[in-house]
Amino acid sequence: MALKPQPGIMDVSPYVGGESKVEGVDRICRLASNENPLGASDAAKKAYHVIVDDLHRYPDGGSYLLRQGIAEAENLNADHIVCGAGSDELLGLLIRAYVGVGDEIVYNEHGFLMYPIGAKTAGAIPVKAPEKDLRIDVDAMLAAVTDKTKIVFLANPNNPTGSYVSEQELRKLRAELNQDVLLVIDAAYCEYVDSPDYISGAALVEEYDNVVMTRTFSKIHGLAALRLGWAYCSAEVADVLNRVRGPFNVSLAAQTAGVAAIKDKAHLERSRDLNARLLNWFRQQLAELGLLTHDSVANFVLVNFDADSRANAAIEFLKNKGVLVRGMAAYGLPAHLRISIGTEDEMRVVVDSLTAFINE
Ligand SMILES: Cc1ncc(COP(=O)(O)O)c(C=O)c1O
Repeated sequence: MALKPQPGIMDVSPYVGGESKVEGVDRICRLASNENPLGASDAAKKAYHVIVDDLHRYPDGGSYLLRQGIAEAENLNADHIVCGAGSDELLGLLIRAYVGVGDEIVYNEHGFLMYPIGAKTAGAIPVKAPEKDLRIDVDAMLAAVTDKTKIVFLANPNNPTGSYVSEQELRKLRAELNQDVLLVIDAAYCEYVDSPDYISGAALVEEYDNVVMTRTFSKIHGLAALRLGWAYCSAEVADVLNRVRGPFNVSLAAQTAGVAAIKDKAHLERSRDLNARLLNWFRQQLAELGLLTHDSVANFVLVNFDADSRANAAIEFLKNKGVLVRGMAAYGLPAHLRISIGTEDEMRVVVDSLTAFINE
């Protein structure tokens, strides 16, 4: 073929999202993408409807009101916030800005797949650092760094394991990394964490020019369909991101709903409480069925089925009952399934279905 994409692009296995439909099944429990089962806040839905008469207008290219809203809610500096079409866009822009052909990025063994995918599209080499007992090993991350490393990525809490690294470990990682290596802390699930030794990474951004924290409205804020995320970073990195992003990269709908969502603390609390209660309950139920789950501080849980074939059989069995969960082969965990925490009714359906599967 005469057309030739840039180096690395054809090495990418395209990202496969969680399934959302099952032929012939009416009631579906969508537990494959870690979405908020309560949906978006009513305030965000209302705000979304209001913009209908402005659809012919371009949105504010600088997402000014949204950045102000985030800054106020999170007690951060709005000038150091850059918004994007999902945190995926921002992760991609960071790679585009700082990583070139032949460079390396380091990420954890069972880390979010968009890091290696993004690296490959830039012709760079994704280097995996081994984990210990499904937890990020900061020493292994440091050992994986070479003079070609441009970015170290880590999701905290990590998807799909649900584990997290402590403030102390995070600080050690930054302190022992070379200054010219950017540390990207992907805190997509940070709102769910309730552990005293956890930090989102915002404090590190304020201390170091070479740390970026990314966040999303797709998870606890329930706005996955709108594609909205943000990065908190130094003025220098914000300047770079603002040069590489599209001029109107965040839609008016996303900006408007985002402002309302970030202000709705009650919805956030409700979502967090429901998740904490059901995560605990669900893990206990699975333990009674003899299924091992890993400690999770997020809105999903990794379930061990001991054998790849058993995990695959469970996926199919659950699917036939209308329960969609995520197979983990692409994350190097083929004997595991990741199950998002849904509503109480949904989690009861999962437990009943898994009981039937085990007793089959
Ligand atoms: C760790 C992690 N980072 C980033 C994202 C991307 O989120 P967004 O919808 O903001 O692009 C996800 C989505 O699943 C995720 O799990």
